[in-house]
Amino acid sequence: MSSVASCQTASLAARHAMRGARSVKKPTGVSAKPVRATRAPLKCDAFLDKIKAGLEGVMKGDPSVKTQVRYQPRVDAINALESAMKQLSDDQLRAKTKELQTKVRSGAELDSLLVESFALVREASSRVLGLRPFDVQLIGGMILHEGQIAEMRTGEGKTLVSALPAFLNALGGKGVHVVTVNDYLARRDAEWIGQIHKFLGMRCGLIQSGMSDAERRDGYESDVTYVTNSELGFDYLRDNLAQTPAELVLRDFNFCVIDEVDSILIDEARTPLIISGLADKPSERYVQAAKIADAFEKEFHYTVDEKQKSVLLTEEGYEAAEELLQVTDLYDPRTQWALYIINAIKAKDLQIKNVSYIIKGKEVVIVDEFTGRTMEGRRWSDGLHQAVEAKEFLPIQNETVTIASVTYQAFFKSFPKLGGMTGTAETELTEFNNIYDLQVQVVPTNRNVQRDDSQDVVFRSESGKWNAVRQEIARMHKKGRPVLVGTTSVERSEQIAVLLDEEGITYELLNAKPENVERESEIVAQSGRKGSVTIATNMAGRGTDILLGGNAEFMARLRVRELLMPRVVMPEEGDIAFEKKNLGGGKEGKWRVKGTALVLSQIPPTLFYL
Ligand SMILES: Nc1ncnc2c1ncn2[C@@H]1O[C@H](COP(=O)(O)OP(=O)(O)OP(=O)(O)O)[C@@H](O)[C@H]1O
Ligand SMILES: [Mg+2]
Repeated sequence: MSSVASCQTASLAARHAMRGARSVKKPTGVSAKPVRATRAPLKCDAFLDKIKAGLEGVMKGDPSVKTQVRYQPRVDAINALESAMKQLSDDQLRAKTKELQTKVRSGAELDSLLVESFALVREASSRVLGLRPFDVQLIGGMILHEGQIAEMRTGEGKTLVSALPAFLNALGGKGVHVVTVNDYLARRDAEWIGQIHKFLGMRCGLIQSGMSDAERRDGYESDVTYVTNSELGFDYLRDNLAQTPAELVLRDFNFCVIDEVDSILIDEARTPLIISGLADKPSERYVQAAKIADAFEKEFHYTVDEKQKSVLLTEEGYEAAEELLQVTDLYDPRTQWALYIINAIKAKDLQIKNVSYIIKGKEVVIVDEFTGRTMEGRRWSDGLHQAVEAKEFLPIQNETVTIASVTYQAFFKSFPKLGGMTGTAETELTEFNNIYDLQVQVVPTNRNVQRDDSQDVVFRSESGKWNAVRQEIARMHKKGRPVLVGTTSVERSEQIAVLLDEEGITYELLNAKPENVERESEIVAQSGRKGSVTIATNMAGRGTDILLGGNAEFMARLRVRELLMPRVVMPEEGDIAFEKKNLGGGKEGKWRVKGTALVLSQIPPTLFYL
């Protein structure tokens, strides 16, 4: 086992300390198009509707109306620069970047350069990607720049939004991190949005798992770096264990934009990132304890508190264990049998296969009970993981000792400025505020949301609920409507699969099982095909476009990627790996046609949350 944590040099310690935790609905009215009046009294309907809807929004306290009012003057100012920007050549646009950089270096406040920078990025995006950021996207960008969270509905184009504040905050040369939840999204965003930065003369970096230190250092030296939360977190930990400055890969933090911020800052907040070393050889005691736990009876030998996730041995349990093991004290510190037995019972009663964990090859892989996502490489601590391995008759891996650890919560607090984007932040408003001192602003949608969000349906019994689910899916499926069923656990998703098998409905099942995970993006992308039924735990497809009729562009890109993998993963400077087409506007409510979201409903695509 190594103990490098204590050998940091003074200058490194100072640097780490410096980096250390800083104490530690609609856009009502705006989109109502004037319609030609067919009857005289209706002549000014559109105008009146606009005013009425605006007023209603304010009266009802629609937060997106407030946001719009607040940022509109700056949006107008950016719009006013549009025609001038259009007249500049590509080289003149790049020269503008240099001009802005010089201003920042000579002490100009970033705020004073926001309008010009955003107008510049908008023009670059129109030229390079064919996407002209909408006014609401400019608003989202301003919110991020202010170090707040922008809540933008799914499909509103958050990926492009991040380019605006990233460019502005990179002008000072101190680097900006754009953080996403997985390697696929980091690469997609770097290859796609990164083209804007490159066009404007900035360096864009990408960090992927498996990269060497030299590649990481180079990526982090860029003006804008696309990276996942876990790569960034682990690089931070490894830097903290570095023994010479030459080993460091990160530089000091400046500004970070987190995509899917709720998933990273709330759902995974307390998940520790751990770098560990190997301890002694695994103990045979795990196997013996597993046998004892298997023979023991609940309520007689032990009791379980499901809520607290704790177990207690009864008097009978103690005696039986001591007798079986031929020992006089289960708590003897030299053997610590009690610990092994308690863990073995926890493994038996509290860690359920295909709910709490899955078996992949010869390994026990933890499943996040909230998202259904597998947490590869993570292990339960204090011998619990080994106890589950013993229960499953798998090879027991060495115990590990923590060398360095940090939670995402503490880690992200060490950024001087942090902005985030998500489709759903309002529900976690208080947590963002209390824990991270982050305000949430709701951004209006570009167009009216056409999705029909139904009321929740509550059932008296589980069986009633499952029957209703089965009937509703079958009814929608008969009409040819694509159906996406969201569940919170692997077990639930399989329960629904059984129901559909009984109905004779074919479906795609997307849960943490390894054989499904590999096709995650592909399955989600195609879930909008006519008649398709997709069951997914809520881990699935974040960031993947679902198009009605299926996503031909996505499939084509996937195939090209498979063929050209090595080259596409590491795009050359200026290399355009793939291009997103302008699809004529951000989609409303993710499915680009009128749809229904049903929390346990009817017409075009149907989405169930269970
Ligand atoms: N200004 C724009 N003009 C036209 N199309 C746009 C614009 N901005 C984004 N889009 C398109 O909208 C689609 C959705 O974008 P994106 O995936 O960034 O949305 P999102 O808000 O991140 O969604 P999710 O919450 O699902 O991650 C993409 O196909 C993108 O090309
Ligand atoms: Mg997104």
